[in-house]
Amino acid sequence: MLPATDHRSKTVVLGITGGIAAYKAVDVCRRLLDSGLRVLPVMTEEATRFVAPLTFSSLASEPARVSLFGTADPIPHTHLAREADIVVVLPATANFIAKIASGLADDLLSATVLASTAPMVICPAMHTEMWEHPAVQRNVKTVKSFGVHIIPPENGKLAGGDTGIGRLVPVEVIVSKVLDILATLDNEQSAMGRRSTSNAGGGGDFHGIKVLVTAGGTRESIDPVRTITNRSSGKQGYAIARNAFSRGAEVTLVTTVDLPYPEGIQEIPVESASDMEQAVLQHAGEADVIVMAAAVADFRPAQVAGTKLHRTDGILRLELEPTPDILAEVAAAKRDGQLLVGFAAEVGMDESSARTKLHAKGIDLIVLNDITCASSGFGSDDNEVLILGAGGLRVEVPLSSKDEVSRRILDSVLSLRPSTMS
Ligand code: CTP
Repeated sequence: MLPATDHRSKTVVLGITGGIAAYKAVDVCRRLLDSGLRVLPVMTEEATRFVAPLTFSSLASEPARVSLFGTADPIPHTHLAREADIVVVLPATANFIAKIASGLADDLLSATVLASTAPMVICPAMHTEMWEHPAVQRNVKTVKSFGVHIIPPENGKLAGGDTGIGRLVPVEVIVSKVLDILATLDNEQSAMGRRSTSNAGGGGDFHGIKVLVTAGGTRESIDPVRTITNRSSGKQGYAIARNAFSRGAEVTLVTTVDLPYPEGIQEIPVESASDMEQAVLQHAGEADVIVMAAAVADFRPAQVAGTKLHRTDGILRLELEPTPDILAEVAAAKRDGQLLVGFAAEVGMDESSARTKLHAKGIDLIVLNDITCASSGFGSDDNEVLILGAGGLRVEVPLSSKDEVSRRILDSVLSLRPSTMS
């Protein structure tokens, strides 16, 4: 598990925009301060109609900033952006999300957000009709694609006596997300401090262990333009790679997507199941732990057209053939002491079919997740999984960040490799 984290040197820029839930930001501010963090409150003009800046200034012992102009600091947004270890915005109005999605910087908060490279958490709250509007959903998707963590609103009481989706999530959820992200940063930084560009000389409970991880959904060509693919974002695979690396492992990541990862991880970009098979088989021999988090296509077009297929050619019939089962191939060549982890993306938490898969593939651990669950699985920042071991291990991981899920998976791996623990 995570080592105790000292947050005292960390700074949170707490953004507050103009919604009724602005009063809850006061509680979030207090809890972040109680966790030992420094909090710099930044409010929009509209937010000051709901809560007085003095409330935040008094709590945080830092001035609550509202304007880009009129202060002694001529460029407050860049200074705030640089000081931030994390930026949290709550409640985030539809207007604020639209500004960030389109890159608008017309007040101090939006300018700070655009100027910051720190991790960012945005907690929307608004009426149901606004939240469900296609424009808002499109903007949320765009902001998410920038790597921002969005904590979607929940069902509950709204302003004006209405009820529905749009209520700000409980403050505990927001605070725990912030602490979780800061703990991951701490872990990565301390691991980075132990080595320059590789983990060969580092410490950590994965020190000396070579981990091969696959991530993302494969793309199978139909013709030079089109592919068959799936909805895997690769986030869970990257989280596993990052966590293994921060715990001292030497990590090779075979991936179909391009997400941020710490320098020192060996990344091998691939596209199709066949590319992935080649890369995995090339590196499997030297790996101590192989985690197949990728969503490998089960089928691919039997024939790939050499030129672009045209609509005017009429009805297109595709014949699909099974792809090679990479995990089963690796399992067939498994050497002593090597540990194989597979994923079972299922409709529903079908434990018995995951167990069947675990035994049929001849692997050591399988991570079962329900891909139909909106709050977890494909594309989401969170996941809820059941980890099953061939020897009877059974670990339920409730809805948690993908970082936390990866820690639990790696803890399970270590529990099967007691001799390697430092
Ligand atoms: N996998 C693989 N090669 C494939 C398909 C899947 O290595 N061609 C791996 C996945 O990365 C995952 C595990 O096998 O770790 C299970 O994948 P899944 O698609 O759930 O299982 P399948 O074996 O494809 O069985 P199903 O028919 O249930 O889809």
